[in-house]
Amino acid sequence: MITVRTRAELAQARASLTGQLGLVPTMGALHAGHGALLDAARSAADGVVVSIFVNPTQFARSEDLGRYPRPLDADLALCAHRGVDVVWVPSVAEVYPAGMPQVGIDPGPLGAELEGAVRPTHFAGVLTVVAKLFANVRPDLAFFGEKDYQQLCLVRRMTRDLDLGVGIVGVPTVREPGGLALSSRNSYLSLAEHEEALSLSAALFAGREAAPFGAAAVLAAAQAVLQGAAVRPDYLELRAADLGPVVSGDARLLIAARVGATRLIDNVGMTL
Ligand code: PAF
Repeated sequence: MITVRTRAELAQARASLTGQLGLVPTMGALHAGHGALLDAARSAADGVVVSIFVNPTQFARSEDLGRYPRPLDADLALCAHRGVDVVWVPSVAEVYPAGMPQVGIDPGPLGAELEGAVRPTHFAGVLTVVAKLFANVRPDLAFFGEKDYQQLCLVRRMTRDLDLGVGIVGVPTVREPGGLALSSRNSYLSLAEHEEALSLSAALFAGREAAPFGAAAVLAAAQAVLQGAAVRPDYLELRAADLGPVVSGDARLLIAARVGATRLIDNVGMTL
């Protein structure tokens, strides 16, 4: 495995890889959920590049950019163990050499809904950096977790609308045995908060159980779980699989909530 910092080093390392190239974009603090992305990339592509970059433009001023975990040695060990070929760990100046970009990707109407309603600048920051990662790595395939389902839908939409020519692969969420979706931000939770956070996945699972009875039953079942919980969600919404309005067929139940000072998101798929 080669670890590179600059775009020139990345271009050189990339040139040594042949066949289908898979990119796993990450912000580091890798866990078993990222492990599943690496495994999916390893089995679908001939060469695997991982980017580790905590992208400042997707954090609002009030958010956790400064304290976002950066355990680089452990991240590199996990990448080596999973058979990654190249890890790109650029600095902020390497990704944004001309300072913060004046031109970026507009995430469109979906970018203002759900997470975007609470974090209005988030998806412009995500899509702009993903477009830059694609431009530098030039992958055939890129792998994103379903845990950030709205991000996955927006990346798919950007790739299609802008003819970026990258195949986007969604990888199912990895959960703790108790149901909590793995997230780098789980490390912020105290033991008591970790217990409270279990109500998010419990609500989603209860909603999914009710899917054969229709959309209203799904929401009622999920809300019933949350009624007895300490956690108050920012949103609990049932949408179509592409995050348009749900009627019937494939659907996603999505939730976001603050647990103590930590904001968590989760979702499950179901068929109505
Ligand atoms: O999901 C993430 O870790 C980030 O949003 C991504 C896609 C690496 C862009 O910074």
